[in-house]
Amino acid sequence: MAESRIPLHVGLIMDGNGRWAKKRLMPRSYGHKSGMNRMIGLAEHAQKVGVKYLTVYTLSTENLSRPREELDGLFGLFRKYFKTNVKKLYEKNARVKVIGNISALPDDVAKLLEESQASSPENADFTLVFAINYGSRAEILNAVNRAIEDGKKLDERGFGSLLYTDGIPDPDLIVRTGGELRLSNFLCYQSAYSELYFTDTLFPDFSDEQFDKALKDYASRERRFGKVQQ
Ligand code: IPE
Ligand code: IPE
Ligand code: MG
Repeated sequence: MAESRIPLHVGLIMDGNGRWAKKRLMPRSYGHKSGMNRMIGLAEHAQKVGVKYLTVYTLSTENLSRPREELDGLFGLFRKYFKTNVKKLYEKNARVKVIGNISALPDDVAKLLEESQASSPENADFTLVFAINYGSRAEILNAVNRAIEDGKKLDERGFGSLLYTDGIPDPDLIVRTGGELRLSNFLCYQSAYSELYFTDTLFPDFSDEQFDKALKDYASRERRFGKVQQ
């Protein structure tokens, strides 16, 4: 694939873990664990094929009202991942960024997330962005309130710099697994001109080959940004 046709930034809505586990008569936490493992593989693959930013929707603001038991399972997975796997990312010259309100997470998890960002290599050629307790509405309101406090009128660039995604280019492609045809509060401002790709595949089954298929589909599209057809 020509390099110019590879999206710089892919957003990934990793949906379907619960249904994947249910089909196997297993608890939802088993689905989340399998999903986390698949995400690790996909991030490596995305870096290899030349994607520069991969944003993985890991926990939405709305997900925070799920049953305590499910959330504890997820926090346990975050603890494990950010203590061990993240170091393998650094070795591959990848860095970690977190977007979302992490202050509402258990203290030790929030601390681990902060540390993972701070210890990331400086000249990384790939960024794995974790959207954790992330919601576009909260992000936009947070930016608006900061602008009001500063008493400044903003243009698009100024507003963008108040979002959690400051410094990250807008997603070129958003992929959602799990069959639902919606964004569920994911990068709603940043996705104004993103290409969207939906698949019924439940996230733990979403293979590297299926990711490549989404990239191929993206490469065949004409992005017009409001201009007339070439
Ligand atoms: C997505 O999978 C992961 C999170 C929201 C944490 P779900 O847990 O929503 O899985 P389904 O949609 O119930 O299958
Ligand atoms: C979106 O999935 C959030 C994540 C994948 C982290 P949900 O399962 O929460 O979305 P809805 O509720 O079906 O819209
Ligand atoms: Mg879901």
